Amino acid sequence: MSEQPAAPLPRHIAIVMDGNGRWARARGRPRTIGHRAGARAVNRCIDWCLAHGIEALTLFAFSSENWRRPPEEVGALMQLFLRALDREVDELARRSVRLRFIGQREAFTPDLQQRMALAERLTAQGGRLQLNIAVSYGGRWDIVQAARSLAEDAAAGRLEPGSIDEALFGSRTSLAGQPEPDLFIRTGGEHRISNFLLWQLAYCELYFTPVLWPDVDAAVLDAALADFQRRERRFGMTSEQRSREVPT
Ligand code: IPE
Ligand code: IPE
Ligand code: MG
Repeated sequence: MSEQPAAPLPRHIAIVMDGNGRWARARGRPRTIGHRAGARAVNRCIDWCLAHGIEALTLFAFSSENWRRPPEEVGALMQLFLRALDREVDELARRSVRLRFIGQREAFTPDLQQRMALAERLTAQGGRLQLNIAVSYGGRWDIVQAARSLAEDAAAGRLEPGSIDEALFGSRTSLAGQPEPDLFIRTGGEHRISNFLLWQLAYCELYFTPVLWPDVDAAVLDAALADFQRRERRFGMTSEQRSREVPT
């Protein structure tokens, strides 16, 4: 009897952590309490990824559009980021998690920018899980900054415009060098991307759950994984072609 091939594991999971505000409102509490509970769910999610041997996890923590929220909420989120950085970095380094921030860093205070850079340095040796936190991030910004960097090289004579292809373009985007996300999860019930990774999600499997982010635990992530493992990823080919291929 031939053995069943092992169910494929996503190499890279990207998550829109949505629903903190509604979670707090349902409890009659301020939105900030929801964000705090959301930070605890981040830890559960990292634990789950480490337990499953996921290579990369990208979390949408603050979008380029979230600056439009009331200043009190933005301020509270910044405080939460600062405190979480101070609290978690040593533990992440100990567990061999490598932290990176993607997004428009210049939008943050110098203090926060320095702490982000320090957290990246302190975890740079991590080899078990690449953890990308998207802050002041927008998928369109990511594409525009890649285009700008190529245009600068071309204008300076360092690059022949005809040599720009998908691989070169991708190498200037924020998650260059990492496997492409293969599982996208959005909690909170909305069925939209909200300007998260646009370039990188081209062939990602999309999974939506009504569970609010602060309620996310291993069971919710197990369900997303099980759903992913039932899918057939065809990448434009036919089902017959895919079933003839050696599973990777
Ligand atoms: C996601 O939760 C966290 C951030 C966008 C910072 P929300 O704050 O968007 O929560 P809801 O969608 O209002 O419930
Ligand atoms: C997306 O959630 C951004 C993050 C989770 C950080 P939003 O709550 O900002 O998205 P919209 O406004 O519902 O599209
Ligand atoms: Mg929301």
